[in-house]
Amino acid sequence: MPQPNSVRDFKTMKPETAVNLEEIISLEERYQLATYKKMPIVAERGEGVWIYASNGERYLDLYGGHAVAATGHCHPHVVRSIKEQAGRLLFYSNLVYSEARAHAAEKLVAIAPASLTKAFFCNSGTEANENAMRMARMTTGREKVVSFSGGFHGRTADAISATFLGKYRELGKPNVPGHLQAEFGDIDSVRALADEFVAAIMLEPIQSMAGVRRAEPSFYRALRELSDERGIVLIYDEVQTGVGRTGEWFFAGSEAGDRVVPDIITLAKALGSGIPVGACLVTETIAASIKENDLGTTFGGGMIAMAAVTATLEAIEDDGMLENVRSIETYLRERLKEIEQVVAVRGRGFLLGLEFAEVAKPIHAALLDHKIITGTSSDPNVLRLLPPLCLKREEVDVFVEALAQLMKISPRLSLGEDYQQIATGRAKPFRTVRRRSR
Ligand SMILES: Cc1ncc(COP(=O)(O)O)c(C=O)c1O
Repeated sequence: MPQPNSVRDFKTMKPETAVNLEEIISLEERYQLATYKKMPIVAERGEGVWIYASNGERYLDLYGGHAVAATGHCHPHVVRSIKEQAGRLLFYSNLVYSEARAHAAEKLVAIAPASLTKAFFCNSGTEANENAMRMARMTTGREKVVSFSGGFHGRTADAISATFLGKYRELGKPNVPGHLQAEFGDIDSVRALADEFVAAIMLEPIQSMAGVRRAEPSFYRALRELSDERGIVLIYDEVQTGVGRTGEWFFAGSEAGDRVVPDIITLAKALGSGIPVGACLVTETIAASIKENDLGTTFGGGMIAMAAVTATLEAIEDDGMLENVRSIETYLRERLKEIEQVVAVRGRGFLLGLEFAEVAKPIHAALLDHKIITGTSSDPNVLRLLPPLCLKREEVDVFVEALAQLMKISPRLSLGEDYQQIATGRAKPFRTVRRRSR
């Protein structure tokens, strides 16, 4: 029988109806700030690429809870490690040494490009980016930061000020001064801004939320050269691309990025398989500019998070997930050729953007009706896939066949009132979406 979490829950929840879907939804809506548009799923349990809802239905999760569930939901090795650590010591801060922290730092540095030799642990992606920018300012003695159109870096003050995607910066007003916007992929626009007051150039090497946008390999090389020439710290925000998502441990050092390695990589999301943890990986030069007390956070490097980091990296390695990402990406791309409405497949590994000729939101909603979770993006025509790194061929088949069926029944789903009905669950997509003649 479910236990009430608080006196309030106790008063409002009848135990025998606690599994009642509507009651859970209405409780959450009543007591949690409505900052997210939620899917009508009460997630109860997860296994691999599947999420089981409390009404008994199961969903193929091609979104991984915002790219977090890289090792799959509840990977046994990760769960076991967290449980074991929880039985020994839940937490102690950086004022003491810890075996869990020592191993996590060693493992993370071991898989990183060779020039990144030290880790700083924090709790989230935005915090990793805040600390990365602070380290760049401390190292250079300069203040400005160049970031890019379409980039997303988080929602705390400095990170949101570096976020030029959509209206996020507006939400963060008043912004931190000294943030400059260059055009993603256009080195001349960076060159024009990169003066002697610029501390850092920060980018998502593949811009995920902007619709999975990549630049030419030569762009990354030019950024590296420009940074070296002008004494600027190059930061890759690998909160999404890191920890195996592209089929390699990091975008940094990959062929797609002309083997360029930045001065700092920031990580979060997949790093703890769902336990909140962020990290900055830095060079010796950056590390040498950071003294005691320059950075800090109570929970950074906590034992549970550290056990989760080590187990996550081990699980990816032991299960051959990097190879799996590369081979399944090839298979998925091949199969998607069967669907003519998919006009392009952007991205790399399991950070993929399926570009449609028309708006993708109705397709997202209709797939959800088929019990398949995907993601949208700020490009209305792009559907994002960020599945666990253990996705298999059979599961790709489930997705492609559902998509093919959907496209056959309704080849040109259009956005309008019908979609609103689908999205709110008030109508079945296939019966209600308008079909346009071709
Ligand atoms: C590329 C990128 N950077 C930073 C962040 C912020 O991470 P967090 O939500 O953990 O603060 C996100 C989150 O979506 C992200 O996608």
